[in-house]
Amino acid sequence: MTSGDFSSTSPEDWGTDPLAVFARWQQTAVERGLPAADALSFATATPDGRPSVRTVLYKGMRDGALRLVTNYESRKGREIAQNPRAALVFFWPGLDRQVRMEGTVKRAPAAESDEYFAGRNRDSQLGAWASQQSRPLASRAELDAALEAVRHRFEGRAVERPPHWGVLHFLPERVELWVGGSHRLHDRFSYERDGEVWRVQRLAP
Ligand SMILES: Cc1cc2nc3c(=O)[nH]c(=O)nc-3n(C[C@H](O)[C@H](O)[C@H](O)COP(=O)(O)O)c2cc1C
Repeated sequence: MTSGDFSSTSPEDWGTDPLAVFARWQQTAVERGLPAADALSFATATPDGRPSVRTVLYKGMRDGALRLVTNYESRKGREIAQNPRAALVFFWPGLDRQVRMEGTVKRAPAAESDEYFAGRNRDSQLGAWASQQSRPLASRAELDAALEAVRHRFEGRAVERPPHWGVLHFLPERVELWVGGSHRLHDRFSYERDGEVWRVQRLAP
């Protein structure tokens, strides 16, 4: 039986690593062509605990961290710089599976962001320069003009990564795997990291 096997709703069958189960579920959502299979809700908070949440895309795992990409000077980027604690949730209606995580976020090494940025198409690269994400814009025309200026600036040469744009690493400390059940009697398993191992508890739905 592979981790996250769909025929089982029992963590004994899933192995001891909830991130392996998560990866298997997410991959299944992709393979089945489910809409927004790679979308998650990503919550950050100010140092005094005011939360904010938005949708972002999941860019795979590296060294036990979930990778996200964003503008470091966006609202979320500014919140993370002051308070690295964050939470996220995936829900795939087509699988009746939910994964919640809580943990900390940090910027990936610059070389990793450079590598990721180099793999984006040119228009997306230019867009990363043109958009001062989360800052007020007077009009759509202002954004279009910024894009034109950037196009001109990089004409005939490669677009380097803007210093304010890059990969984030989300390191989970707590993971909850949720499997929809009938009569709202769902299965919930909460995993907490304890050094190198994960402690698991079943929770009432
Ligand atoms: C389906 C979807 C995917 C998105 N993916 C990303 C993403 O990967 N990175 C990102 O910075 N914003 C992404 N956004 C935009 C964010 O939801 C949000 O508008 C933006 O990041 C600014 O958020 P902030 O002001 O809280 O920083 C996505 C939006 C949607 C609806």
